[in-house]
Amino acid sequence: MNLKDLYIEFFESKGHKQIPSAPVVPENDASVLFNTAGMQPLIPYLMGQKHPYGTRLCDYQKCIRTNDLDSIGDTYHHTFFEMLGNWSLGDYFKEDAIKWSFEFITEKLNIPLEKFAVTVFGGNDLIPEDKEAIELWKSLGVKEERIAKTVEDNFWIAGETGPCGPDTEMFYFRSNDPVPDKFDPEDSRWVEIWNNVFMEYNKKVDGTIEELPNKNVDTGMGVERVTSILEGVNDNYMSSIWKDIIEKIEEFSPYTYEEKPESMRIIADHIRTATFIIADPAGIRPSNTDQGYILRRLIRRMI
Ligand code: SER
Repeated sequence: MNLKDLYIEFFESKGHKQIPSAPVVPENDASVLFNTAGMQPLIPYLMGQKHPYGTRLCDYQKCIRTNDLDSIGDTYHHTFFEMLGNWSLGDYFKEDAIKWSFEFITEKLNIPLEKFAVTVFGGNDLIPEDKEAIELWKSLGVKEERIAKTVEDNFWIAGETGPCGPDTEMFYFRSNDPVPDKFDPEDSRWVEIWNNVFMEYNKKVDGTIEELPNKNVDTGMGVERVTSILEGVNDNYMSSIWKDIIEKIEEFSPYTYEEKPESMRIIADHIRTATFIIADPAGIRPSNTDQGYILRRLIRRMI
């Protein structure tokens, strides 16, 4: 069974309803040019509105992030990618979210604990360290040296304002090197694969934080990263998702992928992103404004 079906089936077995992926261009949200995460189309519901499918949702969402443009060319960043997600809208919270993530990772994806590590929110002036998440991970068997605390990287918000909260991120050691005992989130051999955000706050325009009407869970798992892990390759672009496009680029090029990996990754990434922008129901074409400008830049950069 492929990763997407495995994920949806797992969360359906935990009482979630699958919702369809929204288009890449947001339908009712002028604050962003593209959906950057699975939670973006769900913002009204995270803010308290009732969702017609209930309080437990899951999906895979087409996402576009242009803030990572300078990282494109490495083995694990993409401008367009798909994000698997499960949400609790005021239903379950930290304990179930972490328990189910762990169950999915170890029992469905069969990722060995030896190659697994997490980060948790370390606390700041406004919100304390997430001791509960630390204890939950430990109770599941994650060793202390595989739990790192950060502040900036463990607080998630889509933009400047809106629903937000501390998160716990899960990492996989994607390398043939021996796995170090102590986890260092800055070591790029540890690849982030899933994020659980405990979305209980709303950041207002004046910068202050208030509690949301509900305590929500918002998670996001990268399809391309996890597919590479399941297929045993240390480079996303070597997985089945990218194989055809890389082979086609090699056909047109005097070089092989091994000779020019960075350039070929950029071309492959930008072709895929441009294709999904053009195919979106919003009918975007290259131009000098908004989404059309991004599309034009991607095509130029690729050329
Ligand atoms: N919104 C969070 C993220 O994008 C979890 O999905 O990482």
